[in-house]
Amino acid sequence: MRHEYFIPCAPGVERTLFKEVKALKLPRAEQQVGGVRFVGETQHAWQANLELRTAVRVLQRLARFSCRTDDQLYTEARAIDWSPYLDPDGTFFVDAQVRDSTLTHSQFVAQRTKDAIADWFLKSTHRRPSVSKDDADLRVHVHLSADRATISVDTSGESLHKRGWRRYQGFAPLGECLAAAMTLEADWDRRAPIVDPFCGSGTLLIEAALLAADVAPGLFRKFGFERWPNHKADPYTKFFEQTAARMRWPSKLRLHARDFEAQHIEGLHSNFSALAELPASGAPTAEQLDRTLIAETGNALDFPWQEGWGALILSNLPYGIRIGDSAEVKDLHCEFGRALRMQCKGYSLALLLGDKQLAHSLGLKEWASRELRNGALRCQFVSTRLA
Ligand SMILES: C[S@@+](CC[C@H](N)C(=O)[O-])C[C@H]1O[C@@H](n2cnc3c(N)ncnc32)[C@H](O)[C@@H]1O
Repeated sequence: MRHEYFIPCAPGVERTLFKEVKALKLPRAEQQVGGVRFVGETQHAWQANLELRTAVRVLQRLARFSCRTDDQLYTEARAIDWSPYLDPDGTFFVDAQVRDSTLTHSQFVAQRTKDAIADWFLKSTHRRPSVSKDDADLRVHVHLSADRATISVDTSGESLHKRGWRRYQGFAPLGECLAAAMTLEADWDRRAPIVDPFCGSGTLLIEAALLAADVAPGLFRKFGFERWPNHKADPYTKFFEQTAARMRWPSKLRLHARDFEAQHIEGLHSNFSALAELPASGAPTAEQLDRTLIAETGNALDFPWQEGWGALILSNLPYGIRIGDSAEVKDLHCEFGRALRMQCKGYSLALLLGDKQLAHSLGLKEWASRELRNGALRCQFVSTRLA
């Protein structure tokens, strides 16, 4: 049976997500503001959850209707058959986003939807699921915009940026989906060495390694749909195993990491070692991981760049908001830019910077940039090849 799905992503990432969706051949895909819509079978939702690197979640739309009053919302929510998604003894949570509508309070919208779902179960089963914010069996989303309501169930459960490999956070980790978007948009053949001289917890290098190894980013984790009463565990296990079997560790790939905080380098090693635990026959051994990652504590400005290396410099420099003072951060960009211009001819660059001014501070001749959001922070993604 076909369903309509919406895949939200971070602002600015829609185009990259759409390319991913097209590459997976998800049916009837359409790029929209804030994400990508498609219409497909349950198996397509499994695939979207397992494979998409830049998706934040995969929502299955159950109802769309015009909504000006809470009675309309209640009646429509109560008309949905909830039995495929939640057991009467299970737990659920509703969240709502409201914009430019007659109903203005998102919490009230969530509450009325919650009442409708609970009442539907009481009427049809004489039992009532309970509400749980953490670790709910079912998460329901209500989106109300210009008096049009959409009620969706979240097939992902926890946000898809929670891959399952992160053991160390660091101070300002880049979101995994954004790191994946940068890696996908970088000028990189998936073989050239990568350098992240401001590596922090190593998000960019790990997401790049997953891409090069053809590891679906969802292999580490469970999804919301696995807890639904209508979930077909056997075909999903087969599908999961086929996806996992594609993994091939790129034994020649070299990832060079630096950070001047020793604890980040330690944390990066701990995050990277989680890749050995991938549930796939091609998962790397500890020795393979050691050969791939060359990480050391040190100043990015002293990195030993090698002539003719043709590496990708994939990095997220300090912004000056969460880390460091802004004049210091500007000087750092000027000095880093000088090193790049003098020592890195032929290298590709894919950098996430605090703003356009900082991009200018690098002193590069030509570069493309676009705005991306790292959580609430507006950033500039800068890419180029150094001539
Ligand atoms: C924005 S954070 C990078 C976060 C990282 N992408 C992650 O996902 O965890 C910037 C990092 O640069 C490091 N850093 C700042 N100045 C540095 C320098 N001159 N040399 C090396 N590392 C530096 C900080 O310690 C911090 O970990």
